[in-house]
Amino acid sequence: MPIELLADHPLLVPVVSGWHFDEWSDRYPGSTRAAWTAELAGRCERDQLPITFVALVDSEAVGSASLVVCDMDTRPELSPWLAAVYVLPAFRRRGIATALVTHALAQARRFGDRHLYLWTDSAASLYRRLGWHPLGEEPYKGKTVLVMVCDLQT
Ligand SMILES: CC(C)(COP(=O)(O)OP(=O)(O)OC[C@H]1O[C@@H](n2cnc3c(N)ncnc32)[C@H](O)[C@@H]1OP(=O)(O)O)[C@@H](O)C(=O)NCCC(=O)NCCS
Repeated sequence: MPIELLADHPLLVPVVSGWHFDEWSDRYPGSTRAAWTAELAGRCERDQLPITFVALVDSEAVGSASLVVCDMDTRPELSPWLAAVYVLPAFRRRGIATALVTHALAQARRFGDRHLYLWTDSAASLYRRLGWHPLGEEPYKGKTVLVMVCDLQT
């Protein structure tokens, strides 16, 4: 399954940001679809952060993952972050998120990062299976989330 740079598929930016808006915008009251599209458009670097990857099946985008400098405004001391891991419902449980996360980890290593962080309230088992470790639970955006770290040197 190809995993490509969103930077190479600019027409997909509003499509992918629409997935993200529908999944997560309830945590960001007042945010708009246009603002989410603009933010994702700004996460389209090629050889540095922020960067976004898309998984393709039969040339259709089915999933995404980003590497960003900061994804949790309450934890500015931690950086960089894996963010916006998303797979379309019809394509779940066939390893696409696993492939996206593995790809993002390899890219972060290539950038010279030693650690990568994420927060989740829905997919800790996926990340544990991929070698991530919990740092602790904390309140964020109205929910209790788990902050996790991946040691990129092991
Ligand atoms: C969480 C999410 C990204 C997972 O995507 P996915 O592509 O289904 O993930 P994978 O297929 O790689 O792994 C999911 C599970 O399917 C299992 N799986 C993988 N391939 C499989 C296959 N061929 N057959 C059956 N199960 C399989 C994995 O073991 C994994 O189980 P686990 O969660 O107990 O570890 C997806 O459900 C999603 O987009 N959810 C909404 C957004 C979200 O919560 N994102 C995470 C933010 S931190």
